[in-house]
Amino acid sequence: MKFFIDTADMDEIREAQEMGILDGVTTNPSLMSKEEGEFEDIVREICGIVDGPVSAEVVSTDFEGMMKEARANAAIHEQVVVKIPIIREGLKAVKACSDEGIKINVTLCFSANQALLAAKAGAAYISPFLGRLDDIAHDGMELIKTIRIIYDNYGFKTEVLAASLRSPKQVMECAVAGADVATIPPDVLKKLLDHPLTDIGLERFLNDWNAWTSKKNGAAVVV
Ligand code: E4P
Repeated sequence: MKFFIDTADMDEIREAQEMGILDGVTTNPSLMSKEEGEFEDIVREICGIVDGPVSAEVVSTDFEGMMKEARANAAIHEQVVVKIPIIREGLKAVKACSDEGIKINVTLCFSANQALLAAKAGAAYISPFLGRLDDIAHDGMELIKTIRIIYDNYGFKTEVLAASLRSPKQVMECAVAGADVATIPPDVLKKLLDHPLTDIGLERFLNDWNAWTSKKNGAAVVV
């Protein structure tokens, strides 16, 4: 499973990149709005840090506007994947962009039928929003599983990009469900590594090692 980080914060992206397991970045207008600077400069800087796809979202809601933005975003850097919401005009733009060779990440997906349409339109990625479904008492993980089955049934190449993740447990369950990618918030990415038994075990190993070496050193002094 590929790991993307879900942020536009340069420090967080650098920190994740240093972990050595980062495959890409997703941003959205809300994440962008937390940063200083121009959209293009931020996207370009992210591409300079990470060697992988960087999602940059359009904000137009009409076909012509989306196409204009999609071409502009794709021109920022070869790593850019354009993010387009799964609305009526968006679907048309996904098809037109895919035909032009612009890679698209279809966002704001909340149903398997939306995912099916995105794949038929040639999307490179589909982003089902797990956390936001769970927030309204639906089952986000069930959606990932259903999309996986549909895509496998017909051999769609569109990658399932599990989004809106809130916990390490969700990341693990996405891996079990066969998601191709998980885009993970920085705090959740850090939590994937932590385990109290690892910390306790390491402390015990080091204590035993130190006791053993000081015993040997002490014995050497006596001799
Ligand atoms: C996906 O690409 C989105 O940027 C993101 O995962 C949305 O997550 P949220 O529901 O926590 O805002």
